[in-house]
Amino acid sequence: MRKLIAGNWKMNGVSASLVEAERLMALFEFAGPEIVICPPATLVAAMAARFRGSPLLVGGQDCHAQPSGAHTGDISAEMLKDAGASYVIVGHSERRQDHGESDAAVRAKAEAGRRAGLAPIVCVGETESERRAGRETEVVGRQLEGSLPRGPGPIVIAYEPVWAIGTGLTPTPEDIAAMHAFIRGRAGGGVRLLYGGSVKPTNARDILHLPEVNGALVGGASLKAEEFHAIVRAAM
Ligand code: 13P
Repeated sequence: MRKLIAGNWKMNGVSASLVEAERLMALFEFAGPEIVICPPATLVAAMAARFRGSPLLVGGQDCHAQPSGAHTGDISAEMLKDAGASYVIVGHSERRQDHGESDAAVRAKAEAGRRAGLAPIVCVGETESERRAGRETEVVGRQLEGSLPRGPGPIVIAYEPVWAIGTGLTPTPEDIAAMHAFIRGRAGGGVRLLYGGSVKPTNARDILHLPEVNGALVGGASLKAEEFHAIVRAAM
């Protein structure tokens, strides 16, 4: 399975930040993994236009479940597709926490992504207290059951332990491999499984070559071309 390295810029980036993506592409070797950047919504169209026909694909960070309507401030999957996106992240823990998104809401967004022709990247992951209580597989199992889109279609799953996001902490390689084996058992063979949470150039190689790890969802380190490129290299 070809690996996928996705950068999640979160709420970072203005039009001047497109230069960072250009610097990344200047470093890029074409035979490597698939590369996706999910910039803030304000940059999706500009980034997609700038890199049309190049190997860099663009994704959204969230979408509404409905294709259109009276939902002030929201963006539909169809709008992301129209802006040139190929992927959409749904169910990121920052949205589950900050916006109270339920598994059912995440599933509706994932299905909306498919409806619009986007590949949803569905995020799951346990909190620190859930891991300490030994409940990580129970929690992730419930999230998978409730938030994966139904029926056939493209799907990527990102395992992002909440306590590893932006903290510099990561699970042990054994713990990542165990969780990915568990998710593989639920999701089936054809699904790309990403790991996310403090992926850096220094740990990327160890993580990206674990069994059932088909790529990474990278936050902070995706904002710097050299760091993101080093992670892409580590996947090869
Ligand atoms: P960091 O790589 O900054 O820990 O963020 C991970 C993440 O949340 C990607 O979606």
